[in-house]
Amino acid sequence: MPSNLNIDESGSQFKALNSERPLQLLADWVQEAKDLGMAEPDAMNLATVDAKGNPHNRMVLMRHINEREIGFFTNLESRKAADIFATQRTSSTLWWPQLGRQVRIEGTATEMPRDMVEAYYQSRPRKSQIAAWASKQSTELASMNRLHQDFRQYEEKFSDKTVPTPTFWGGFTILVDKIEYWYSKPFRLHERIVLTKGEQNWSITRIYP
Ligand SMILES: Cc1cc2nc3c(=O)[nH]c(=O)nc-3n(C[C@H](O)[C@H](O)[C@H](O)COP(=O)(O)O)c2cc1C
Repeated sequence: MPSNLNIDESGSQFKALNSERPLQLLADWVQEAKDLGMAEPDAMNLATVDAKGNPHNRMVLMRHINEREIGFFTNLESRKAADIFATQRTSSTLWWPQLGRQVRIEGTATEMPRDMVEAYYQSRPRKSQIAAWASKQSTELASMNRLHQDFRQYEEKFSDKTVPTPTFWGGFTILVDKIEYWYSKPFRLHERIVLTKGEQNWSITRIYP
């Protein structure tokens, strides 16, 4: 821990922060939100950038986290997937209003290994699995009727069978290179800590709110 940062000062929310495990506090905060029964505790905004430099963002569920990366699942032919295949850079925000906490994450995304995708897909409810087959995500849909027809068609096709994972469905892992923890405090004197990946180690900095 660098000596210029007093992480232990009285009242700090970040005493548990460890620059050798920069994502641990994120995992802890998600778990705390889950334990409190909060709605969508792992929902995160995901911003991507297309080949022309235009940003696009939307919500996804952060369904993977380890010591260096986070991840989510999606359609590999969607807008977000096209952006990631083109530029790889992502920026994400998670927010838990009841806890007054925000986390911002920047990193580089790559397609998730198929064994992780298979394991997650096969753990999903059957109707969600079938819905994935029926959705050509982010392309034009003539009517909701058409979507329901397609859903029923796949229900019949896979009746009494394990629903296979579509080849067009998968996930992305994001190798994190910057993470900011934000903690709400009275009078907008919020507490912010940024961890940035360096050549060897992560640096850790306190910044003004
Ligand atoms: C709370 C919430 C969670 C969502 N989670 C996912 C997700 O995990 N994966 C996904 O593909 N879409 C998810 N969506 C839908 C996306 O926000 C988006 O509409 C869709 O993925 C298409 O995005 P794109 O056109 O930018 O690719 C979620 C939406 C909400 C509101």
